[in-house]
Amino acid sequence: MQKKHSIAPDLTVQIAPRNSIGLLLKNPVMTASGTYGYGVEYKDSVDIEALGAIICKGTTLEPWNGNAQPRLIETTHGLLNAVGLENIGIKSLISDVLPQWRTLHVPFIINIAGHSIDEYVQLAEIIDGLDGVHAVELNISCPNVACGGMEFGVDPDMAAKVTTAVRSKLKMPMLVKLSPNVTDIVAIATAVAEAGADALTLINTVSGMAIDIKKRRPSLGNIFGGLSGAAIKPIALASVYRVAQRIDVPVIGCGGIFCAEDAIEFFMAGASAVQVGTASFCDPNAPIKIVNGIAQYLQNNAIQNIRDLIGAARI
Ligand SMILES: Cc1cc2nc3c(=O)[nH]c(=O)nc-3n(C[C@H](O)[C@H](O)[C@H](O)COP(=O)(O)O)c2cc1C
Repeated sequence: MQKKHSIAPDLTVQIAPRNSIGLLLKNPVMTASGTYGYGVEYKDSVDIEALGAIICKGTTLEPWNGNAQPRLIETTHGLLNAVGLENIGIKSLISDVLPQWRTLHVPFIINIAGHSIDEYVQLAEIIDGLDGVHAVELNISCPNVACGGMEFGVDPDMAAKVTTAVRSKLKMPMLVKLSPNVTDIVAIATAVAEAGADALTLINTVSGMAIDIKKRRPSLGNIFGGLSGAAIKPIALASVYRVAQRIDVPVIGCGGIFCAEDAIEFFMAGASAVQVGTASFCDPNAPIKIVNGIAQYLQNNAIQNIRDLIGAARI
C-alpha cells in the first residue's frame, strides 16, 4: 500500500515586517491581554510554549488598584468587565515576572497603559531592549478607566500623538490596540499606522452595562464596562475587514474567538494573526486547541501556508 505523505502546513507569520527587529511567530495565535495573566500562571497545566505569543495584563508605570467591585458580569453571550487595569506595575513585572519569562521559549509582549502620554513614554523607555520581552502592545482603548486608556484611542490626533511619542523611544516592535467604540475605526487605524505602529490589534472590548433589577442599580461597581466574548465577534470581524483592506500594516484580530473556525474567519477577513481572550476563561487550553485546529484545517484543505488564507474573503 502506498504511504500518504502530508507535509505540516507553515503557520509562521511575521507581524512586524516594517520593524528592523521584526516579530516572527511560529503560529498566529496569541493570548489577549488581561485574560491570561502573565502566562506563567498556566505553565504547569498548559503547553504555553506552543503558543504564537503571550500578551500580558495591561501594565502601568505604578501599580493600579482598579475599579470598585463587582467587576465581572456574565451576559447571555459574553462577559462584561470593568477591572480598570488593576496591575502590579512595571517595576514588579521586571523583578518578579521577567526572570520567569526568560526561561520560557515563547515570545512575551507587554501591554501598556497610562494616564498621560508621558507615562506611556516612560514605560517605553524602561521596556525597550529588555531581554525576555519581544514587543509592546499599546492599549489606547480600555473603556474602563476614568482617565487615559480609551481617551487616547477615540480621537485620531490623540491616537497619533501617543503612538509617535512611544515610537520615538521604542525600537522593538509596537502593536497598537484599537477601540471599537468609535465612529470610524479606519480613521484611527490610518492615523496610528502613519505614526509608526508596526501592527494593529482590533478590537478591545465594546462599551456596555448591566442592571441589577432587584437593587435597581447598575450591576458593575464602575457602572459601565467592556463587553467581550462571542457577542462581539461580528463587530471585531467587520473592524478587521474594513481596516485590513485600507491599511498596509498587519492587523491582529481579537474578539469572540473560541475555536479554529472563528480564527479562520478572521484570517479570511485580512488578519495576519489572532488573539484569544474570553475563551481562555472557559478553557485555558482554548488557544492551543485553536492552533491545532488551524493546522488541521489547512491540512484538510491542502493549504500549505497560513498566509494563503489572509484576506481570502475580500471582495
Ligand atoms: C477581564 C478582562 C480584562 C482585560 N484586560 C485588558 C487589558 O489589561 N489590556 C487590554 O488591552 N485589553 C484587556 N482586555 C481586552 C481583551 O484583551 C480583548 O481585547 C477583549 O476581551 C476581546 O477579546 P475576547 O472577546 O476574545 O475576550 C480585557 C478583557 C477582559 C475580559
